Formats: sequence, structure tokens, C-alpha cells
Amino acid sequence: MPKICVVTSNTHKFDEISDVSREYGVEVEMCPGLKLEIQSDNLEDIVLKSALLAYLYLNKPILVEDAGLFINALNGFPGPYSSYVYKTLGVNGILKLMDGVTNRRACFKSAVALVVNNRVLSAQGEVCGVITTYPRGQGGFGFDPIFIPDGESRTFAEMSVSEKNKHSHRAKAIRKIFELLLNVNHNATYL
Ligand code: IMP
Repeated sequence: MPKICVVTSNTHKFDEISDVSREYGVEVEMCPGLKLEIQSDNLEDIVLKSALLAYLYLNKPILVEDAGLFINALNGFPGPYSSYVYKTLGVNGILKLMDGVTNRRACFKSAVALVVNNRVLSAQGEVCGVITTYPRGQGGFGFDPIFIPDGESRTFAEMSVSEKNKHSHRAKAIRKIFELLLNVNHNATYL
């Protein structure tokens, strides 16, 4: 199996994905600057179309992952717009929107698409937990300092990569897709 090209410029995301890929003996490489962002409010739609375009362009195994934070009290906001909201409002902007809100439930969702040998595989992962009242921890990226997964007392930013991968939306989606890849053919769409 040739190396899978992970289309991202986010080194944290790539580190998390490579940590999981080692569990499966799958080789991955980081392919930055290639992600063609599709306008859609559906994560699965975004990753499938981005992965197909990158595959047509590069003609090698392609993996695209896209994620978002869905906050219950904000009716799922920022969801698929997490990247834009992170850049504009940031962690502190989200905490401001949540000021005085007692329902702090939220979930991270991840969608992954893998195109290899003219096969298209897709998977999703989710982790739910709570939004903190102030940022905690120096690790990770994005909204990691304000999210505590269920069953933990630490934020994602207070965990190592492998600890985060025990809970995370991304690790769950990546494990599912590598299982599909290695057990092969079920649920695959052929190009
Ligand atoms: P992306 O489009 O998958 O890069 O994710 C969109 C945004 O969601 C990112 O800019 C982050 O702010 C946030 N995000 C996605 N995944 C995570 C995560 O694992 N931890 C913290 N924030 C995340």
C-alpha cells in the first residue's frame, strides 16, 4: 500500500492522524496546501468532494478530514463554520457567547474521506462533552482549551496526542476508515 497523502496544513491534525495510523501500520504523509474548500454545511459532503478533487489532481491515495464543534445551547453553532468562527471570534468569542449559559454540552464531529485505488471510503466520528468557562492547557489546537470530553476532567489542550486520541472525534473517524480500508471492500463506492 503506497503512502496515504493527508491533505492538511494543520500539523496538530496530522500528528493525531499519524498516531492512529501507526496502530494500523498504515503510512501517511502530510500534503499541505492542496485542500480545495467546498462550500457546504455538511462535513461529509465537504470531505468527499475535496478528496475526489485532490485524487484527480494528484492520482495517489488521498485522505481528507474535516471537523467542527457543535454547541447545544447555540443550536449546533459553529458546526461546519468552525474554522471561520475560530479565525474571527476565537476561543474567547465562544466563551463570551456562552457567558451565563448553564447548558454547556457540545460535541466535536469529524468526517473523513479516503480515496485509494479508485475506491472511495468515508467515516464519521463524534465526541461529546462540555465547554469550560475559561481556557485551560497549552497543547492541541483550535477549541481544545475549552473542551472537556465526557469521562475526563481535563481539556483536550491538557492531554498528549495519544490521550486526546483515546476520546477524539477525529481518532474515532480515522480508526473506522482504516478498519474499512484493511477489511476492505464493504461499504466502498467505486469510481
Ligand atoms: P477543520 O476545518 O477540520 O480544520 O476544522 C475547523 C475548525 O474546527 C478548526 O479551525 C478548529 O478551530 C476546530 N476544530 C476541529 N477539530 C478540532 C479539534 O480536534 N480540536 C479543537 N478544535 C478543532
